[in-house]
Amino acid sequence: MLSDIPPQTDPRVLVDFRTADDAGVYAWEAGPALVQTVDFFTPIVDDPYLYGQIAAANSLSDVYAMGGRPLTALAIAAFPEVGLDTDTIRLIFKGGVDVLRDAGVALLGGHTVRDREIKFGYAVTGAVDPAKMWTNAGARPGDVLFLTKPIGTGIVGTAIKFGRAPEAVVAQAVASMRRLNKAAAEALADLPVHGCTDITGFGLIGHAAEMAVASGATLELDAAAIPVFDGVRPMVAANRSGGLSSNRAHFADRVRLASPAAEALADLLFDPQTSGGLLVAVGPDAVDAATSRFEAAGVPAVRIGRVRAPSETALVIR
Ligand code: CO
Ligand code: CO
Ligand code: CO
Repeated sequence: MLSDIPPQTDPRVLVDFRTADDAGVYAWEAGPALVQTVDFFTPIVDDPYLYGQIAAANSLSDVYAMGGRPLTALAIAAFPEVGLDTDTIRLIFKGGVDVLRDAGVALLGGHTVRDREIKFGYAVTGAVDPAKMWTNAGARPGDVLFLTKPIGTGIVGTAIKFGRAPEAVVAQAVASMRRLNKAAAEALADLPVHGCTDITGFGLIGHAAEMAVASGATLELDAAAIPVFDGVRPMVAANRSGGLSSNRAHFADRVRLASPAAEALADLLFDPQTSGGLLVAVGPDAVDAATSRFEAAGVPAVRIGRVRAPSETALVIR
C-alpha cells in the first residue's frame, strides 16, 4: 500500500517504508534517532494473557531488529461489543504490560475501538544511534546469517484455531513467541552486525528476500540448518494458512529451492511467523563472538547461511 505514496524528501527521515525495513528511523535534533513501529493482530492462542504477551513481544521486536532500544508503547485494541467479558480483556492488557515491563518499556496510553474481531498490539517508539542501526540494506557478501528462533508458528496457529494442535507443540511455540528479542539483540551489541530483520508475516523466505534485495546481495540458506519447532513437520500439510499461499505467490520468483531438502521445507519457509526470531547478517570475523554471546545469553540462535555476491535470484535455499 505504502509503495504508492510519493517518496519523502525530508532529510531527517533516515529509514522509511521504501526499504521494507522493520521500523522507521527519524533523526532527532541531537543524539540518538527515533525508531517507530506499529503491529497488532487477531488472537493466535486461546489464552488471553499469553495473547497479550505475544502481541507485546511481537511489537517490540521491530525496534530490536533495528538495533534500537524500545522506550514507550501505545496500546491499540479492538474488542467486540458482546460476547467478551471484561476479565478476558483485562488479562490481554495484563499480559502485554508484563512483557513491556520486562523490556523496560513504559506504556503511555492507547486507543480501543469496537470491532467484531479481537485485535491487539502496540505502537512502539525507541531510540537508536544512527551510526549503529541495523537496516535491511547493510548485508555484505561474506557475512554469516544467524536465525535466533525456530520457525513454524503459523502452522501451529492454524492447528490451534481448529483445535488439533498437540499440547507439547503449542507450549514450545508459545514459549518462543512470548520471548522478547531483547536478549538476542543485546548479545550482538558492539559486534559488526551488517543487516538485521525479524521474521514475521512474510515468513523466513519473504524477510530474507527483502534483506537480499535491499542489500543488493544474494542470501544463501542451508535447509538442513534451519531450526523448526519439534513436532511441526508432520502438521504442515493439514495446517497451511492463507498467508502461506499469499507469501508463496508474492515471493516465489525471488527464491530458488536448490535441493530436495529445500523443496521439502518450502511450506515452512513461506509460513507467516508471529513474534519470530531475528535474522542477522554478521561479519565473518565476529561469528565466533556472536555464537558464544548467544550461548551465554541462552538465545537458541543457529547459523543458517551466508551472504553472497548478487546473482539472478535474491535467495537460494540449498
Ligand atoms: Co519486522
Ligand atoms: Co512489523
Ligand atoms: Co532491521
